Amino acid sequence: MRDSADSYDPASGRIRRGNRGNAKRQKFDNEDTYLKRDRHVQRLQAESATDAADGLPEGDRWSTWDQSTPLERGPRPHPKWLVTDLAAVDTELGILKTGKEADVYLIRRGVPGTGPDCLLAAKRYRDATHRLFHRDSGYLEGRRVRESRVNRAAANRSAFGRAAIAGQWANAEFSALCQLHAAGVPVPYPVQVLGTEVLLEFIGDPDGTAAPRLAETRPDAAGLASLWDQLVGALCTLAEHGLAHGDLSPYNLLVDDGRLVMIDLPQVVDVIANPNGREFLARDARNVATWFARAGHPSASGDALAGLLEKEARLA
Ligand SMILES: Nc1ncnc2c1ncn2[C@@H]1O[C@H](COP(=O)(O)OP(=O)(O)OP(=O)(O)O)[C@@H](O)[C@H]1O
Ligand SMILES: [Mg+2]
Repeated sequence: MRDSADSYDPASGRIRRGNRGNAKRQKFDNEDTYLKRDRHVQRLQAESATDAADGLPEGDRWSTWDQSTPLERGPRPHPKWLVTDLAAVDTELGILKTGKEADVYLIRRGVPGTGPDCLLAAKRYRDATHRLFHRDSGYLEGRRVRESRVNRAAANRSAFGRAAIAGQWANAEFSALCQLHAAGVPVPYPVQVLGTEVLLEFIGDPDGTAAPRLAETRPDAAGLASLWDQLVGALCTLAEHGLAHGDLSPYNLLVDDGRLVMIDLPQVVDVIANPNGREFLARDARNVATWFARAGHPSASGDALAGLLEKEARLA
């Protein structure tokens, strides 16, 4: 059920706001998607905004595909739907969601007037001054950046340092997605990373209607059982690779016509190296099992799922 997702209306070029029922604003993860553009959010960023937009209508930029190095592009083979043509233009169709640390935009990439196009989700990390909440200190401590200039700048939170941290989040999410995609975990195909922006496969309908988050759906018993099985399978694969999502909730799972897709992965946790690995596994398991149990799935148990994941990760 797409009860609160927004949708892109190709006729008017605008995002249609979904049916919200309760107009009261909620916060962050459980906040409905909305279109209002935050003033601090830059439009179609690229390494060089002037070159990128040269000669194009406002809000468009040349495809940034060639600006990412091969390692900053998604795993090969690149999917057939992905437009890699250098003459392609990225058109920003609207904002899908503003979050605590990033804003997600809907982008159409294609060569104007010819050929196929594709929809992408552009997740743009904000620098720390524009973030409402951040996990930088604890999380980034363990990650060593080769250039000490970057480490120093990050430590003293200069403007360059803040942008560098946002870039590290983008890189962390991109590499986690590449690893998980290769492992067969249902995640959006990671198209490319460029600075503080991660471009992802758009999960939703071709008309730009984003897939709802699990929390927004009301599946019937069979649908619930299928989603639970998909979730357990995905989490077991993560655990086999020694990983936990680290921030798993029914808001970081999308449901695309019955298919479960895991998103929001910058903080993926190495449960073997991390001394709190077991707790991360258990917390992820509890967060989702609680939702499934409340929704009426009889065999959803946080403890049982946590036990299974510990075994898969060889922690038990
Ligand atoms: N690939 C995608 N396709 C469609 N929608 C997406 C995609 N990625 C993200 N979204 C939408 O954007 C929202 C925010 O994405 P994400 O959870 O990755 O960012 P976030 O900044 O961590 O947000 P939050 O603070 O709400 O957790 C998602 O809940 C989903 O509605
Ligand atoms: Mg999220």
